Parts: sequence; structure tokens; C-alpha cells
Amino acid sequence: MLYIRPEPAPARACTRNPAVLKCLSAVVRYTLEGNDLKRVLVTGGSGFIGCNFLRLVVPEHPGTEWVNLDALTYAGRPENTEDFAGARNYRFVHGRIEDGMLVEALFSEAGGFDAVVNFAAESHVDRSIAGPRVFTEANVLGTQTLLEAARRHGVERFVQVSTDEVYGSLEPDDPPFTEKSPLEPNSPYSASKASADLLCRAYHETYGMPVTVTRCSNNYGPYQYPEKLIPFFIRHALDDEPVPLYGDGMNVRDWLHVEDHCRAVARVLEKGEPGGVYNVGGSNEHTNLEITKIILDHLGKPKDLISFVPDRLGHDRRYAIDSTRIQTSLGWTPQHEFEPGIRETIDWYTRNPGWVQRVTAV
Ligand SMILES: NC(=O)c1ccc[n+]([C@@H]2O[C@H](COP(=O)([O-])OP(=O)(O)OC[C@H]3O[C@@H](n4cnc5c(N)ncnc54)[C@H](O)[C@@H]3O)[C@@H](O)[C@H]2O)c1
Repeated sequence: MLYIRPEPAPARACTRNPAVLKCLSAVVRYTLEGNDLKRVLVTGGSGFIGCNFLRLVVPEHPGTEWVNLDALTYAGRPENTEDFAGARNYRFVHGRIEDGMLVEALFSEAGGFDAVVNFAAESHVDRSIAGPRVFTEANVLGTQTLLEAARRHGVERFVQVSTDEVYGSLEPDDPPFTEKSPLEPNSPYSASKASADLLCRAYHETYGMPVTVTRCSNNYGPYQYPEKLIPFFIRHALDDEPVPLYGDGMNVRDWLHVEDHCRAVARVLEKGEPGGVYNVGGSNEHTNLEITKIILDHLGKPKDLISFVPDRLGHDRRYAIDSTRIQTSLGWTPQHEFEPGIRETIDWYTRNPGWVQRVTAV
């Protein structure tokens, strides 16, 4: 099989030239269609979505070495990767993506990397409101550090895992966000993710780097750190404690099973258009109040556990995602239906109190 590793792009080369960009894109698409990825750097692989991604791809692609670079923050846990940590094609590296020396050393190892999938991020909006700085360091500087190393080493594919929150908030009757919606982030978290998206765009436009961005809606599923709404409320309900619902509970989110998100990222890694953006969503809009009631119903807990608390600062009212592009051009469709998916998720947290206890113990 023909396998071409492009030369590293020269600094500020003539790659603003559309003809050159098109040619570079074609080369990259050609080499990856055979899925000949020998080594892939996955960052943030010990967190919620990253570990679910690795859980899929490590056994499905035994010919690829998957290297997980993770800082093991409070949200990134060794417990999340225990079941595949011993796989021959998996390796863990402890460190931060904004640590330029570490990142450079990793990219300089024999074999280098054919692709990067960047999940690593500070991800909790409430924490970004309380302390934004680490969000800028991890999400903006970290992404730029990875982009720069990938550029210098001629990496053939870079997937930036972003979020629908970069688009800001919708009114109740607005159409869902498309990839052409303006970036109007409202929280320090979403602003840091939008900044990273813009850096990705700039590295593509300036250097012709094959960067692709995914923007997904809210995920649910196993291994989510129990500070996020669904596992947090399940934990409180199981303990018969009040579930603190922001504002009037009518904020709307578009929910997608984490495995469907991971399949979308894998599809973009394989076939995404360099320089392209792909929205990923489940078209499952629910208010936070509806989600809370589903959790309480499923656990047989009374509704009076719901405790309305003062709203989050700058709380986005509604997110909804139009994922037509990834569905029509890459053939991705969500496989999990919402009702059974959310019930299985509640059951997973109910069956795994030991995991909840261990990850929240520090
Ligand atoms: N959770 C969602 O619903 C959702 C939806 C759309 C997009 N996303 C995006 O998906 C990605 C993963 O989200 P998640 O929910 O799994 O988050 P998470 O907080 O569960 O996991 C983040 C992981 O990144 C690691 N990390 C944090 N800072 C790091 C750094 N500086 N260097 C290396 N590792 C670092 C953490 O240790 C953790 O393992 C994020 O980029 C997030 O913006 C999340």
C-alpha cells in the first residue's frame, strides 16, 4: 500500500495558495483512506470521551499503536482505562499538552505520529467561571502546542474535538447550529474552545495543515466525571439527596450517546476533509428538567428531590445541532436511541458505585 508521509511544511510556506492547499489535501486524503495509521496520539484519553474512544479503537485497530497523553487531572482517571491498559497496542504517557518539551520529545520518538486526536481539555463550565486561567492554558495554549509539534513533524491528520458551545445560545424557535453559524461563545470554557478552533483554522489556512474540527453536542454515557449533570444527579438521587437544578430547569441541550460521538470522531479521523468542520449531534433536545425527571423516575425517586438553585452566570439557554454534513458526506449516523441509552447510562452508574467513589475520592 502506498504510504506517503508529507514533508513538514516550511514556515509560512506558499500554502495560502488555494491550488497548493487543494493538492496537499488530496495527498492527505489519499494516504488515509487505506486507514494505514501506525501510531496515533490521543490526548485526554483518560477522561470521559477519550476513554470511551480508546475503548472502541484499541481493540478494533490492533495494527495501530494508540498513545494516550493525559495530565490525569481530577477528571482524568487511571480507573477509566484499566480494562484496556494492558493491550499491546496501547501506551499511556503522563503529561500536559501545553508542555512543549514533553510534546516535542514524544513527536520525535521513532515512528513519530501519523495522526493526533485532541480530546484533552478542561471541560466543566462552572469551573471555568470560578477559575478561567487553566482553561486558557490547557485548551488554547495546549492545542497550539500540539498543532505546532504536528506541523513541524508533518503529521498527516489532526482532529480537534470541539463543542457546540462555541456557537453560543439559541432562542427557542431558532434553527439548529450549522457549521456556518457564527462563533459566539459565552463562557470562559466555550471561549477557550472557540479560540482553539480558530487556531486550528489558522494552521490549516497558513500552513496547509490537515486539521479537522468536530463540534459535538452534550454527551451522556459511562465514565463521565460525576460533576456533570447526568452522573451528578444520579449520584445525588441514589443517596436521596436534593438534585440542584439551575434556574427554572428549562435550559435545553441536544443529547448524544458518547459512543456515537466517538464513532463520529473515528470517522472524521479516517475520512474528514482537511480544514473541514463537522457538527455532531443526536437531535435529542431535552430540557434539564426533563432529564432530571427521567433520572428520578428510572431510580424510583420522588420529584421533590428537585431543588431549584440560582442560575449559572451566563447560562446558555438552548443548544441544538444540525449534523447533516457528517451524515451525508461521511455516512455517520447515531446508533443509540435516547430513551434506552439514558436508561442504560443510569443503570451503569447504579451498578458502579465503586467507580464513582474512587474517582470522587480525591
Ligand atoms: N462532555 C461533553 O458533553 C462534550 C461535548 C462536546 C465536546 N466535548 C469536548 O470533548 C473533549 C473531552 O471532553 P470530556 O467530557 O471527556 O472531558 P473530561 O473533563 O472528562 O476529560 C478531559 C481529559 O483531558 C485531560 N486533560 C485536561 N487538561 C489537560 C492537559 N493540559 N494536558 C493533558 N491532558 C489534560 C484530563 O485529565 C481528562 O482526562 C473536550 O475537549 C471537550 O471540550 C465534550
